[in-house]
Amino acid sequence: QGYRGSEALMAMHTSEATPEPCELDDRDYRCACNFTDPEPDWSSGIQCMFAVEVEIRAGGRSLEKFLKSADPDSLEYADMVKALRVRRLTLGAARVPARLVFALLHALGYSRLKELTLEDLEVTGTYPPPPLEATGPALSALRLRNVSWATGGAWLAQLQQWLKPNLKVLSIAQAHPLAFSCEQLRTFPNLTTLDLSDNPGLGERGLASALCPHKFPALQDLGLRNTGMETPTGVCAVLAAAAVQPHRLDLSQNALRSTTNPGASGCIWPSALSSLNLSFAGLQQVPKGLPAKLSVLDLSRNRLNRAPRPEELPQVENLIIDGNPFPDPGDPQPQESSSSVTRACVHSLLAIGISGTLALL
Ligand SMILES: *[C@@H]1O[C@H](CO)[C@@H](O)[C@H](O)[C@H]1NC(C)=O
Ligand SMILES: *[C@@H]1O[C@H](CO)[C@@H](O)[C@H](O)[C@H]1NC(C)=O
Ligand SMILES: *[C@@H]1O[C@H](CO)[C@@H](O)[C@H](O)[C@H]1NC(C)=O
Ligand SMILES: *[C@@H]1O[C@H](CO)[C@@H](O)[C@H](O)[C@H]1NC(C)=O
Repeated sequence: QGYRGSEALMAMHTSEATPEPCELDDRDYRCACNFTDPEPDWSSGIQCMFAVEVEIRAGGRSLEKFLKSADPDSLEYADMVKALRVRRLTLGAARVPARLVFALLHALGYSRLKELTLEDLEVTGTYPPPPLEATGPALSALRLRNVSWATGGAWLAQLQQWLKPNLKVLSIAQAHPLAFSCEQLRTFPNLTTLDLSDNPGLGERGLASALCPHKFPALQDLGLRNTGMETPTGVCAVLAAAAVQPHRLDLSQNALRSTTNPGASGCIWPSALSSLNLSFAGLQQVPKGLPAKLSVLDLSRNRLNRAPRPEELPQVENLIIDGNPFPDPGDPQPQESSSSVTRACVHSLLAIGISGTLALL
């Protein structure tokens, strides 16, 4: 009895030590594979065939050997891909020949895939000649994080040629490199969200070469969190030069300087801009030259050590200002600086400022 028990325990122990690389949830909805074993059991991936969300990580190995079995022109293969339920696919942790990436996109052209995420990939080698018309999937979202491309700045233009032009969301983090070859890039007619967050080396200069003029006509949300931006007015100048007109701009988590140069505040912000995030930006005072009117301004988690004066602030409906070290040390109750108190305080200051301006008029 005791012997059988310990045998069972041992069996349990072994199965814990070498878990199945793939796991499918009970609803057959989400399936995730992590092929970290030196001799991975690739066939375990078959259980992901009918999942809607599929995530595959290849343990950082080269997928070169799959190249010879990739024959996108086989009809059988197309029928199989058509039967897939997958809508969201994540591929990660691998070294992949470019030819395999594009064979995969071609095959996924038969699928109903909507969202593709590529993470921790090294794309090697050169590209096959581009297709005459886009044969890849009609993606609505493409997200890349830590993907490097052997061909340098042409990668986005080449990737774009495989995609049908429905893309609405494009996010590119930890890019190598993030400069795009603008003359090769086509317009993204339906792209509303461009998220370049988490590229700390970008800076205003890098942004100027990433925002290809007139390629993002439908843009509404521009994410520049943690991108090494230095001043809001510098960003304003880049947006103006690129004729990009976002409605919402996220500049949080950048070490921003408040511009003091009066000439710099002459930049004209996009007229549609209604929301600006300057949270976690190390600001000691409200930067000059912000857009005149905003519906949301997030100045939370900065180092503002006194309440901004009304004349320093744009007209804003929803000001978020918690997590700053004011009220002044001279304030009788410094402990009661809750966000709603500071917000109310700033709102009344604003009201005084506005009514003061009206009185002057
Ligand atoms: C995949 O497995 C490796 C090694 O066991 C682990 O470090 C990594 O966090 C896993 N990745 C995911 C997404 O579970
Ligand atoms: C980025 O991806 C490479 C593989 O291409 C990997 O070796 C590296 O650890 C990843 N870096 C981060 C920060 O995850
Ligand atoms: C893309 O935008 C065009 C107009 O620019 C529109 O006619 C078309 O329906 C949009 N396509 C999708 C898939 O949203
Ligand atoms: C601004 O950015 C911070 C940090 O990136 C985030 O936590 C916050 O929710 C954002 N604010 C708004 C109004 O979206």
